[in-house]
Amino acid sequence: MLIKNGNFITDNESWQGDLREKDGIIVELGENLKALPNEQVIDAKGNIVIPGGVDVHTHLSLDVGIAVASDDFYTGTRAAAFGGTTTIVDHIGFGPTNCTLDHQINKYHSMAKDNAVIDYSFHGVIQHVNDETLDSMEKLIEEGITSYKFYLTYDYKLSDADCFRVLQRSKELGLIITVHPENDGVINYLKGKNQKEGNLSPIFHSKSRPIECEVEAINKILIFAKMCNDAPIYIVHLSNGLGLDYIKFARKLGQKNIFAETCPQYLFLDETKYLDTDGLKYVMSPPLRDKTNNKLLLQGIKESHIDTIATDHCPFFYKEEKQLGKNNFAKCPNGAPGIEARIPLLYDKCVKEHISLNKFVDMCSTKPAKIFGMYPEKGAIKVGSHCDLVIIDPTLKKTICHEILHENVDYTPYEGIDVVGYPIMTISRGKVIVENGNFVGEKGCGKFIKRKVYNDL
Ligand code: URP
Ligand code: ZN
Repeated sequence: MLIKNGNFITDNESWQGDLREKDGIIVELGENLKALPNEQVIDAKGNIVIPGGVDVHTHLSLDVGIAVASDDFYTGTRAAAFGGTTTIVDHIGFGPTNCTLDHQINKYHSMAKDNAVIDYSFHGVIQHVNDETLDSMEKLIEEGITSYKFYLTYDYKLSDADCFRVLQRSKELGLIITVHPENDGVINYLKGKNQKEGNLSPIFHSKSRPIECEVEAINKILIFAKMCNDAPIYIVHLSNGLGLDYIKFARKLGQKNIFAETCPQYLFLDETKYLDTDGLKYVMSPPLRDKTNNKLLLQGIKESHIDTIATDHCPFFYKEEKQLGKNNFAKCPNGAPGIEARIPLLYDKCVKEHISLNKFVDMCSTKPAKIFGMYPEKGAIKVGSHCDLVIIDPTLKKTICHEILHENVDYTPYEGIDVVGYPIMTISRGKVIVENGNFVGEKGCGKFIKRKVYNDL
C-alpha cells in the first residue's frame, strides 16, 4: 500500500508526505514516492493521517452478574474501527470465586479469537491475592500480560494488605497496575441510606458516589505505590479535578510512574443528565460530575497532567438491561457506550480548544501504547511500526447520534453533539477495514498483542 499526500500527525511531529506499507508494516516514509507495480495507492490529499487509536479501557461482553455488556469482540471492535481505533486493551471481568489468574485470560482469548477485527490485548484482573496469584503474575509475562487491574469497590475489592502485596510484586516484575478507585464503605452506606429513604431515581446513583470517595481511594493507592518504591500505577476513569490535584501533588513530591486516564463522558457530559427522564443511560461508576469538573479535567489535559483518554466502553441496552434500574438506581447495570465516538469527540474538542493535534494523538494513541508496552509497534508512524492508520477528513461535519454509530446498543450518551472532522478510513496492519462508512474488514482478522513489561516513561 502507498499512501500519498497525507498530513501525517504523530505525538511529536507533523509533516506532509507519503507512506509505504508492506506485509502490515510501515517500510518507508518520504516524499514523491512512486507506486510499485500492483501497489494499492490511497490519495490522502487534504486529510489528516494519524496512528490508529489505542483504547486501553473497554469491557466487551463484560458479565456484571445482572447483565452482560452488549458489545462482543466482533461488534465492539468493529464499532471501534469505525471510530478510528485500531487497538484495544480490554479490562476482563471477574471469574468464579478463587479462580486462577489465567482463568479469565483464557476465557477472553477464546471470546476474542476469530471475532476481533482489530488488534487487542487484555489487562488481567486480580480478584484475590495468594502466593499462587503472585507467582502467576510472573508466568503470564511470557504470554504478554503485563498489566493488571484491581478494584477498591464492588464484590471483589482488594484489602489494603492485598493491594500492597500486588503493588510490591508488580514493581519487582516490571508490571503496571491499573486501579478502579472508589471508597467502598462510604458508597455502600450512602447507597443503603438513599434506598431506605426512598431516594431511588438515577441522580441518587451520583449522590451515593461523591467525588471524595474517588479521591480518597486515589490518594490511598498513590501512597501505597509510593511505599512500593514508586510502583507503576495507572488511575482509570478519573472523573474530577480534586482527584487530579492529589495526583499532581504526589508527582510534585517526586513520586514517579503515576498515570491518569480520563474518558469523554467526564469531559463532555455532566450530572444534570441524571435528572432527565432517561437518566439511567448515564448510570456508570464513577458517575458524571458537574460542569466545573468537566472544565478542570480539560485544563488538566491542556497542562499535560492527564496522560490518556480511554472510553470505559461498557454498553447495556437502555430499553432492556438499563431498565433493571427503573425503580431503583442501585439495580441498574453500571456502564455506558463510547468506543466509537472517542476519536471524533476528542479531535473536534482539541481543534476547538486549541489543543495541538500532536497532543490529541499522544493521549488517544501514543501514550497508551507506551504505558502498556505496545510502542512503537502501536501508537507510532515510524518505519517498522504496524501499519495501523486512520485518515480523518478535517472538514467532515457530523452530528453524533445513535443512527450513525455501529455499537450494538440502542443509544449513545453523546446524542446530538456536533463535531467537525471525522475518520473516513481505518487501516489495520496495512488492510483497509473501514472506508467511507463501510466495514470492509474481516471478522477475526485482529491479532492478540503480546505486550512488553513497563518501561520507565
Ligand atoms: O460503570 C462502569 N464504569 N462500568 C464498567 C465497570 C467498571 O466499573 O469499570
Ligand atoms: Zn471500566
